[in-house]
Amino acid sequence: MSGRVFAIVNQKGGAGKTTITINLAAALAETGARVLLIDADPQHTAADWSAVRESAPPFVLIALPQPILHRDVPKLAVDYDFIVIDAPPRNYEITRSAIAAADLVVIPVQPSGADFWATRETVKLAKEAREFKDTQKSVFLVSRRKGQTALGRDIREALAEFELPLLRADIPDRIAYAEAITNGKTIIESQQNGLGAKDFRVLLAEIKEVIA
Ligand SMILES: Nc1ncnc2c1ncn2[C@@H]1O[C@H](COP(=O)(O)OP(=O)(O)OP(=O)(O)O)[C@@H](O)[C@H]1O
Ligand SMILES: [Mg+2]
Repeated sequence: MSGRVFAIVNQKGGAGKTTITINLAAALAETGARVLLIDADPQHTAADWSAVRESAPPFVLIALPQPILHRDVPKLAVDYDFIVIDAPPRNYEITRSAIAAADLVVIPVQPSGADFWATRETVKLAKEAREFKDTQKSVFLVSRRKGQTALGRDIREALAEFELPLLRADIPDRIAYAEAITNGKTIIESQQNGLGAKDFRVLLAEIKEVIA
């Protein structure tokens, strides 16, 4: 069977897409799965992250920052158990192509009004794609949650308006994530038994339920 494809998309910049893509790929690789990370961002942040590493990442990483993902990913998926696509900000064509390639679209949203409003366009693209691919699922993931603040609860209520499921798991704001990326590491490599590694194992368990 061909690998499952996850696209991490939000047209809003800085939502945490690259952080989530790298660490979700690491959590998948930790289970022994064959994982491909596709850096679809012309800023090539994930590829830059890979370049500062001394050793190869625990998954295969390629850069494909073009709106040909929907065309080429099915062929690549034959060789992997999972493909995780890191989509760019403010790029309609590539975002649309990444969504079209995906079995599961994960839309990370930071708990703030500005991020919530800017997510509307991405939601529209995800809903349009489902009209062509009715097996596709789209979910929200609260990203960079800051403690147990009202903003964190409010974003959950606000997102309900879009009528897409919201994952129970969320990704808190942790300096350890920013440090790991800066050092060319996954959160699992930098703190194998730390809270950040646990966040991604919990997220992966829920994602597996969603695609089961
Ligand atoms: N959960 C988190 N905790 C702390 N810092 C984070 C977290 N997620 C992301 N960051 C930091 O926020 C910044 C933006 O994150 P990231 O690059 O993952 O977002 P992005 O959505 O990929 O951005 P872009 O839209 O530019 O591609 C980075 O400096 C990153 O280290
Ligand atoms: Mg990014």
